[in-house]
Amino acid sequence: MQKLTLIPLISGIALLAGCSDRIKDTHPQQLVSKRQAIFKQFTKTLEPMGLVARERQDYVKATFVANAQALQELSTQPWVYFSADGNYPPTRAKPDVWDKPAEFKLAQDNYLAAVNKLADVAGSADMPAIRASVEAVQKSCKSCHDQFRNDSAKAKQGD
Ligand code: HEC
Repeated sequence: MQKLTLIPLISGIALLAGCSDRIKDTHPQQLVSKRQAIFKQFTKTLEPMGLVARERQDYVKATFVANAQALQELSTQPWVYFSADGNYPPTRAKPDVWDKPAEFKLAQDNYLAAVNKLADVAGSADMPAIRASVEAVQKSCKSCHDQFRNDSAKAKQGD
């Protein structure tokens, strides 16, 4: 019996230790956590397509199309969480997101156009077109990050 009651306590401590170097998202709507979680999905979805583009993985039409459609589905989702009250720690977004809304919107539109193009060619098996489209998406991620995201040694993914 005693052993059993210890388990939740120990896992609670482990959880706390794991989070100790992070600032907590205390916003009632968890805006920063929500958009960061979607961005992580961007990376997870794009990565296998990047491997195909670099010929590190075979092109399997059904898989590639599914990934491209998943990215297309995700691509419209983070932006709503950059609302007026969404600039607070632990965000890595630069103040320009809120100071230059037209430019931030343009970066989103460029990105959406690149993702839509990728979804269009995903099933074509036309490798040069697929490669060019994957690279265009990667470029649009990076160009928005250069302009609107602070660098951080900790976050290596998706850069
Ligand atoms: C229009 C701008 C824009 C585009 C396009 C964009 N991002 Fe980001 N991304 C951001 C901003 C701003 C943040 C910082 C969010 C925050 O911390 O509040 C971010 C954060 C991230 C993060 C870190 C999430 C975390 O847990 O801290 C990853 C990973 C990421 N983006 C991947 C991508 C990938 C991959 C793409 C392209 C497929 C992409 N992003 C496209 C603006 C963009």
